[in-house]
Amino acid sequence: MRILRPCWSCCCLLLFCSLGIQGTPKAPSAAPEQVHLSYLDEPGSMTVTWTTWVPTPSEVQFGLQPSGPLPLRAQGTFSPFVDGGILRRKLYIHRVTLRGLLPGVQYVYRCGSAQGWSRRFRFRALKNGPHWSPRLAVYGDLGADNPKALPRLRRDTQQGMYDAVLHVGDFAYNMDQDNARIGDKFMRLIEPVAASLPYMTCPGNHEERYNFSNYKARFNMPGDSEGLWYSWDLGPAHIISFSTEVYFFLHYGRHLVERQFHWLESDLQKANQNRAARPWIITMGHRPMYCSNADLDDCTWHESKVRKGLRGRFYGLEDLFYKYGVDLQLWAHEHSYERLWPIYNYQVFNGSQEKPYTNPRGPVHIITGSAGCEERLTPFSLFPRPWSALRVKEYGYTRLHVLNGTHIHLQQVSDDQDGKIVDDIWVASPQCHPKAWLQWPKEC
Ligand SMILES: *[C@@H]1O[C@H](CO)[C@@H](O)[C@H](O)[C@H]1NC(C)=O
Ligand SMILES: *[C@@H]1O[C@H](CO)[C@@H](O)[C@H](O)[C@H]1NC(C)=O
Ligand SMILES: *[C@@H]1O[C@H](CO)[C@@H](O)[C@H](O)[C@H]1NC(C)=O
Repeated sequence: MRILRPCWSCCCLLLFCSLGIQGTPKAPSAAPEQVHLSYLDEPGSMTVTWTTWVPTPSEVQFGLQPSGPLPLRAQGTFSPFVDGGILRRKLYIHRVTLRGLLPGVQYVYRCGSAQGWSRRFRFRALKNGPHWSPRLAVYGDLGADNPKALPRLRRDTQQGMYDAVLHVGDFAYNMDQDNARIGDKFMRLIEPVAASLPYMTCPGNHEERYNFSNYKARFNMPGDSEGLWYSWDLGPAHIISFSTEVYFFLHYGRHLVERQFHWLESDLQKANQNRAARPWIITMGHRPMYCSNADLDDCTWHESKVRKGLRGRFYGLEDLFYKYGVDLQLWAHEHSYERLWPIYNYQVFNGSQEKPYTNPRGPVHIITGSAGCEERLTPFSLFPRPWSALRVKEYGYTRLHVLNGTHIHLQQVSDDQDGKIVDDIWVASPQCHPKAWLQWPKEC
């Protein structure tokens, strides 16, 4: 969450340390590391991404048997990535897409080349079409230091609890740090989760260095915006990932705000026309529109940039998401968990007093940024706001179960309380085609 300012004495210290270590360089390795998966919105596919330190061919061998030979093969490509740090460290990022996978079937794979193979990993191919119930783990702000949620996420993953992960920005703290070695460390750390589940991301403020280059190079998301904004279908949901950071780091290009906004509008338009098939629209972006934390972040301001746009007028997202009936908005950035009542423009739009999330008349916001990092947890303001339904200042992450076209189940897991469920709600919304909160409920 916090935006780090460079500290020159620290940088010099780092430089000397790294030069010291460099005295006896290790032979660069052709062995794959930092293996992770993503789903490029192509049914029957899964994409494997990994790193080597020398250029090698990019191959994945896979099959259905847990042991023995892996009869299937897929080839891909690699591209060099040069970190912006003073050492200009060079990684080779390999990408291979496996196609023709049988829906819901478990595969075993290894990646690499004759010069070195990874160990074997397992994943389950995503099911196709809208008629199944995806389960997701959702969180943001997970660091290489103090990654509190990771052991339990790892166990959950081994037990097959999820179909995908949504990491809502802020990785490693920071991937570029120490000449991108922190990025390497982080990608190794998440491998037990990310090599088994599509690990879907959006950028946060901690990815900012060198124009988000570590983020863009290391992750491999659908679309052609280098993972800044994209969308994909998962069961009954259409999931949109975008960058709130374009509103804050304007020196990388104001045009990005406009480009993303137009892309969002056209994607939402299409998704809204497709509600009969996929009734839910879910967004993920790093910095929230609202929050009630005790800091000076954008979301604590009445006219936050994400909500109201640049200069309170241009490219604000609340109106856009309201217009196209976005159901659920996932955020992070604040190192805590906060759930809001259905809301638009500071007005609460409960379905009813007794059942606020049954037929809500506005979007539901969840802020889940407490997976754990070196900055610890963020305190809340003394008094909750009238739109704030629940606040939890504990490490943890969210489980999101899209049961079917009308029911979504959300749970908050507390790592401070050994996995206890500290929030549990159902969102139930009738199917409308298209859906628009403005016209609600006439269109349904
Ligand atoms: C930053 O990256 C984006 C694309 O990811 C590009 O459009 C933009 O021009 C870049 N900005 C600078 C200053 O290099
Ligand atoms: C929304 O529902 C909650 C839970 O019943 C209630 O506490 C709150 O006052 C409601 N808000 C409005 C504006 O109806
Ligand atoms: C979705 O699941 C809920 C809970 O089991 C059920 O009540 C509802 O009828 C289901 N909706 C559809 C469209 O199948």
